[in-house]
Amino acid sequence: MVNPKLSHHPSICYRPIRPSDLEILQRIHGDLFPIRYEFDFFQNVVNGREIVSWAAVDRSRPNGQSDELVGFVTARIVLARESEIVDMLRYDSLKSDQTLVYILTLGVVESYRNCGIASSLIRKVIKYASSIPTCRAVYLHVIYYNNPAIHLYEKMSFQCLRRLQGFYLINSRHYDSYLFVYYVNGGASPCSPLALVTIMVDYMRTGFKTVAAKICKNEEDGKVPKWPKCKETISLVSTTQNNRNLTAECSGHECV
Ligand SMILES: CC(C)(COP(=O)(O)OP(=O)(O)OC[C@H]1O[C@@H](n2cnc3c(N)ncnc32)[C@H](O)[C@@H]1OP(=O)(O)O)[C@@H](O)C(=O)NCCC(=O)NCCS
Repeated sequence: MVNPKLSHHPSICYRPIRPSDLEILQRIHGDLFPIRYEFDFFQNVVNGREIVSWAAVDRSRPNGQSDELVGFVTARIVLARESEIVDMLRYDSLKSDQTLVYILTLGVVESYRNCGIASSLIRKVIKYASSIPTCRAVYLHVIYYNNPAIHLYEKMSFQCLRRLQGFYLINSRHYDSYLFVYYVNGGASPCSPLALVTIMVDYMRTGFKTVAAKICKNEEDGKVPKWPKCKETISLVSTTQNNRNLTAECSGHECV
C-alpha cells in the first residue's frame, strides 16, 4: 500500500545502519521518541558495537535522498538468564549460553507509515534471532498508550507477557509499559499446553521406569512394591525471576 502522504511510489530496501547514517538517525530518534538518547547509543548503533540494526531506505526518493533512512530497528543480544523474562522461557534457559534479542528502538518516519516497513524490520529481527542457535526469543517494551506499536506487535504474533508499573520515567512522570515476546527456536515457556504435555509424558515415563525398576528390585527383595514418592517436582513457574527495579529511570535504550 502506498501512503497518500508520499508523492511517488516508494521502492523500499533494507540494509545495515552505517556511520554515514549518524546524523539522520539522531534526528529521527529525536522526532519520534519522548526519550533523549545518549550520543554513545548512536555511535554504537552506526558502528555495530554490540548492537544490530537495519535501516529502511527508499531508492526511488528524489533529490539525493535515496539512501536516507526512512525507518530503522535497533536490537542487542542479551543473556537469557540475566533477562527479566527468564521465568517465561523454556526450562533450559538458565544454561549459560542461552540468549535473547532485545529490540531497543523501532521507528518509521510519518510519511512512510502503513506501508509495511516496520513489519518488515521486525521480520528481519526475528529471522536474525532464529538464525542464532542459542537464541530463544525476541522481546521488547512498549509504553502502554502506544496503540499503533501494540497493534503491530499483536499483528505479528508477539505475546504480551505482562504490564510493568511505572517502567518509564519521562519528564518526571512514570508510565507503565507492556512487555512483548516472540519465541524462536522452541523457546516458549513450559506453561504452553504442548510443553506441559511433553513434560507430563516425560515425567510419567520416568515415573513408570522408576516403578518398574523398584518392582523388579522389590520382587528380587521379596517386598511389596509401593508407588514411589515423588522427590522432585517440576517447577512450572521458575523462582529465578530477575527482579529488575522496574520503577527505575529508563536507561534510555528501551523501545517506547
Ligand atoms: C509503530 C510504527 C513503527 C509502525 O510503523 P509502520 O511502518 O507504519 O508499520 P506497518 O506498516 O508495518 O504496520 C502498520 C499498519 O500497516 C498495515 N500494513 C502493513 N503492511 C501493509 C501492506 N503491505 N499493505 C497494506 N497495509 C499494510 C498493517 O496491517 C498495520 O495496520 P493494520 O493492522 O491497521 O492493518 C510507527 O507508527 C512509528 O514509527 N511510530 C513512532 C515510533 C514508535 O512508536 N515506535 C515503536 C516503539 S515500541
